[in-house]
Amino acid sequence: MKIDLSNSGITESEIKKYKKDLEKAHNYIYEKTGVGNDFLGWVDLKYDVTELERIKVAASKIRKQSDLLIVIGIGGSYLGAKAVIDALSHTFNPKNVIFAGNNMSSDYLNDLLDYIKDKDISLNVISKSGTTIEPAITFKVLREYIEKKYGAEKAKDRIFVTTDKEKGVLKELANQKGYETFVVPDDVGGRYSVFTPVGLLPIATAGINLDVLLNGVYDAQKKYSKLENNDCYNYAIARNILYKKKKKIELLVNYEPKLHYVSEWWKQLFGESEGKDGKGLFPASVDNSTDLHSMGQYIQEGERTLFETVINIKKPYRDYTLNCEQNSMDKLDYLNGKTLNEINHKAMEGTIIAHTRGNVPNIILEVEKLDEANLGELLYFFEKACGISGYLLGVNPFNQPGVEAYKKEMFRLLGKV
Ligand code: PA5
Repeated sequence: MKIDLSNSGITESEIKKYKKDLEKAHNYIYEKTGVGNDFLGWVDLKYDVTELERIKVAASKIRKQSDLLIVIGIGGSYLGAKAVIDALSHTFNPKNVIFAGNNMSSDYLNDLLDYIKDKDISLNVISKSGTTIEPAITFKVLREYIEKKYGAEKAKDRIFVTTDKEKGVLKELANQKGYETFVVPDDVGGRYSVFTPVGLLPIATAGINLDVLLNGVYDAQKKYSKLENNDCYNYAIARNILYKKKKKIELLVNYEPKLHYVSEWWKQLFGESEGKDGKGLFPASVDNSTDLHSMGQYIQEGERTLFETVINIKKPYRDYTLNCEQNSMDKLDYLNGKTLNEINHKAMEGTIIAHTRGNVPNIILEVEKLDEANLGELLYFFEKACGISGYLLGVNPFNQPGVEAYKKEMFRLLGKV
């Protein structure tokens, strides 16, 4: 993949001005001297073969014994897996991995209980802290359901726990009941955990090739580790330059519906990492061309506080050539012989021209094809850019103190002692 800043209004010399700050941020990461330095495990994360094998074996056991794996987790404990699975799966084929415990809707839970009634299921409950209320409630309900359905002994084989290596309620429960457990590394925060067992077990269960995905990540670790000519660092710098130019909102734009959850994952990554100390770009997203018909007006002519980062997937898996008769009633002759991918790209190019003219700077990220290796690279690119960008902004990109405030009020209202 590569970055194109030619529509961002950012000059080479503006980027160069960040040389010293970038060096500092880079050293914060590689010398572990910055704030939040105990959460840098994702930077050079490597798998030992045995652990990866254990994940693959568990995934194949789940696939054999179940129609469905229900992944129970919230925030960083589900968005990465959901993003990867959606991006790499057939849009309409029913999925064998579904997600719960990411909300407290009674309708969602009841609908889920209806849906699984005649299906064989396994559970993968994921919580680093082991105490998060949404997955805790859903896990309690589904654990009781599964124990009733299969009996306590057999249920044990259908429950997989991903949590801290030694502490937390979930770990205690897993030890007591004898569930198979996977570890969320101490030095990896939820939103940076997609390439740990948090993401990998659900992803492998969905039938996605972990080796190819991880090779993409390992290549990216190398590619984006150098101080100079680093697209990932240029993206981090460009965001900070635009923020200083009074752009307050970054819109992640895609033209591929399968990327919807990549945007959801990206929003958490950047929002939770940078939105603190009264600072930070607000990360938002649009799915085009769909949202050009809803949000397009605002982007073109609303408040000029936006810039866009466009993910341009160059080649589809399968293209579709239009055959349009001359002079037919539908007046689509001008599209005759064109492919849908070509048309989608013209919509993208036209939108970039129009938005840029409308004073919405555009950063383009070019990705050759939406496959395992490129997706691994793209997600790592964002993680690394986020760490660097947060340091350039002057915040700790690895903590999230603000998420405790609402919990305190909620627990007080619920009478938790
Ligand atoms: O990035 C984060 O730290 C959060 O989004 C967490 O992943 C989320 O709150 C879930 O936490 P836990 O895994 O402890 O249940």
